[in-house]
Amino acid sequence: MNSPLHVPTTHKVRYDPLDPDTLTSPYALYAHLRETTPVFWHEQMESWVLTRYRDCREVLRDYRLFARDRRRVGEDVPEFRQSIQSLDPPAQTSLRGLFINSLRAQDFDGIGRRSQRQIADIFQRLSDRAEFNWMTEVAAPVSLTITAELLGVDEPELGPYVQISDALARRMDSGLLPSTVEAGDQARKDFNALVDSWFETNDRPGTLHDVRENAAKAKVPEHYIRNTTSVTFNASFGTVYATAGNVALTLLQHPEALEQLRNESLLDTGVDELIRFDGPAQGTSRVATRRTTIRDTVIEPGQTVLTLMAAANRDPEQFPRADELVLDRSPNQHLGFGWGPHACLGTMFGQLAVKQLVIGLLNAPAPLRLAGAPVRRRTATVRSLDVLPVTFRQ
Ligand code: HEM
Repeated sequence: MNSPLHVPTTHKVRYDPLDPDTLTSPYALYAHLRETTPVFWHEQMESWVLTRYRDCREVLRDYRLFARDRRRVGEDVPEFRQSIQSLDPPAQTSLRGLFINSLRAQDFDGIGRRSQRQIADIFQRLSDRAEFNWMTEVAAPVSLTITAELLGVDEPELGPYVQISDALARRMDSGLLPSTVEAGDQARKDFNALVDSWFETNDRPGTLHDVRENAAKAKVPEHYIRNTTSVTFNASFGTVYATAGNVALTLLQHPEALEQLRNESLLDTGVDELIRFDGPAQGTSRVATRRTTIRDTVIEPGQTVLTLMAAANRDPEQFPRADELVLDRSPNQHLGFGWGPHACLGTMFGQLAVKQLVIGLLNAPAPLRLAGAPVRRRTATVRSLDVLPVTFRQ
């Protein structure tokens, strides 16, 4: 159980991740929290919140002390939510290996080339529009096609799928908005049912095919494999979609950075830096399995610890010129893809997808321009835009 046992009032801080100004840009607030209260108790989320790089990375690394699997502190995880995300090592290791090996076996170059053609076609079609919403016209279809290609499954219909993805993203904020639970859980069950049908009928090459071929090696009940397939599809779409918006806005606000990316040798470090600078994953949580301390703060067993990776990614102790976009930053061990045994399974693919968008923008019929005020989605765990009004008209 989460229990705010004897939390000193000095540790209580006002932090509303859904405040409109924070949604627009949380980074000044993150800097303030890092400097003044690097470990604080958040009443509403019933969590300890960490904002410094070293603390966040250590919690994500130390799965013995900080569990992702809440059954380790006596909580229940319903079967439809049991996946790679609810197992810790050693139980998680073979399942993770199955998915990583299956993902890595795919034809990344071919998927990248086809994505490039799709982006070029979309840009061509939109080249005369006075204004369009980058999120619905570009980010959503490109993220869905590239994800379905990687998994090797038929593309779900865009409109209904975007609603499922949206409900899943809102569900991640259930600590702040408990009302998101019902719709989020229903969306997961609906999507799991689609995944079940893929397991019965799908015969295309791709990640799913390879996962099914080698499933026995994972030595976990079959529903873990199906639910992890579901998680993988949704994690891919949701993060690539959100990143496509955040990265496009960053490049619109830093046109000189896009020009610098014409230098191909900057593409790999540049994509990682764009994710460090304004990535989608703001935070994730773990639960303490025994009593411990972080800095001088005592964490009791069963208490939740929220690592704000997006705050850690701007920590000047780790990143020189942390608030600047430094396209050749190296080393760049940011936490935008997480860290430790639950770090992103699809990092290479996420980087590939973002790279296609950057190349697409560099080869666009005309420079993309902002055509109105962006509208942020009201979600805290995943930072995303709802509307990014843009145009190619000059
Ligand atoms: C730019 C795009 C992406 C970003 C920023 C991103 C970010 C993240 C982060 C921060 C985590 C760790 C969450 C935690 O520790 O609780 C994570 C986990 C995960 N990601 Fe990604 N991701 C991206 C793309 C993808 C793609 C393309 C896939 C699938 C092909 C994917 C599949 C997953 C899965 C399955 C997990 C859970 C791993 C586990 O719990 O062991 N992600 N991602």
